[in-house]
Amino acid sequence: MPAYSASAPGKVILFGEHAVVYGYPAIAVPVPQVRAKAIVMAEPLSPPGQVRITARDVGLETTLAQLPEDHPLKVVIAKAMLAMQVNHIPACSLTISSTIPVAGGMGSGAAVSVAALRALSALLGHPLSDEQLSDLVYQAELIYHGTPSGIDNSVIAHARPVYFVKGRPLEFLAVKQPFSLVVGNTGLESPTSTAVGGVRQAWEADRPRYQQLFEGVGAIATAGRKAMRAGKLDELGLLMDRNHALLKEMGVSSPELDRLVQAAKEAGASGAKLSGAGKGGSMIALMRPDPASRVSAALLEAGAVGTILTEVGKA
Ligand code: PMV
Repeated sequence: MPAYSASAPGKVILFGEHAVVYGYPAIAVPVPQVRAKAIVMAEPLSPPGQVRITARDVGLETTLAQLPEDHPLKVVIAKAMLAMQVNHIPACSLTISSTIPVAGGMGSGAAVSVAALRALSALLGHPLSDEQLSDLVYQAELIYHGTPSGIDNSVIAHARPVYFVKGRPLEFLAVKQPFSLVVGNTGLESPTSTAVGGVRQAWEADRPRYQQLFEGVGAIATAGRKAMRAGKLDELGLLMDRNHALLKEMGVSSPELDRLVQAAKEAGASGAKLSGAGKGGSMIALMRPDPASRVSAALLEAGAVGTILTEVGKA
C-alpha cells in the first residue's frame, strides 16, 4: 500500500514574543531535533471515506468523522480540503507522532498540523506548498487563540529562521555564524491563549506602559537580526538577556523560568530568556562558540577560502 510520510520541526522564538502580536518584529528559528511526524496510508479495504486517526502520544484513536467539529486537526483538514477543492478523502489511516513537548512553547500543535496536511495532501495528489501550509495553519490557529501573530506557523511550515512582522512579507534570515542553543523545558504546560489573553488585559489596563515594553522588545528583535547577519554572537546573548528582562516586566515569566534562565547564565551561557508564550513552557540559552568554530571564523576572516570542522574520535 502506498504510504506518504511527512514531518515538521519544533521551533523557539529568539526575540519578540508577545510584542509580535501587536505588530512589532520577532525572530524564530526551527528546532529540527524535535519533530511532529505523520504517515498516511491508503486503506482500500476500509469503508469508503473513512480516515482512521491514531496519535498514541496524546491517546487519540478515532476517525476524522468522530472528531469534535472544533478539534484543531478536523478544522485544519477541512480548511485544506476547501483550499485544494477536494471534497472527498479516500479511505486511509493517518498516524501522528511527535517529540515536541505539548504546550511547551515549541509549536507542537502547528507542527502536527503541518505534518498531517503535508502527508494528506500528498495522498490526494495536491501537495501543498510551505506557504499554503503556513496559511492554512494560521487560519486554524485564529480559532483557538484569537489573535495569533502568525510567527509559529511561518517558522514551522518553512523550517527556516524567520524575521517576522505581522502583515508583512516573510523574511528568511541569513545566519552568518552558526550558534548553539540549549532549550530548557519547565515541564509546566502553558496554553498560548492564556498568556496572550493576560498580556492583552494588562495592555488594556495600561496601554502607554505596555506600548513602551513592546517597542523595547521590537527594537531588540531588529538589533537581533543585525547581530545574526553580522555573526555577533555576544551581542545576541546580551539582547536575549534584555529581552527576558522586558518579558518579566510584561508579567509573562514565572519563578521556574527565571530559575532556569539564571542557572543557564551561571553555567556560562552568553544569554538566556524564556521562549514562547511564557508562564511555563520553555526557555533558551545561547552557548558560547566553542574554540574550534572560533578558530574557523578567524581563518575565514584571515583569507582562508573554506574551513572544515570535523570531530575525531567521537563514537
Ligand atoms: O506558541 P507559543 O507559546 O510559542 O507562543 C507564540 C508566541 C506569542 O507571541 C506569545 C503568540 C503569537 O501568536 O505570536
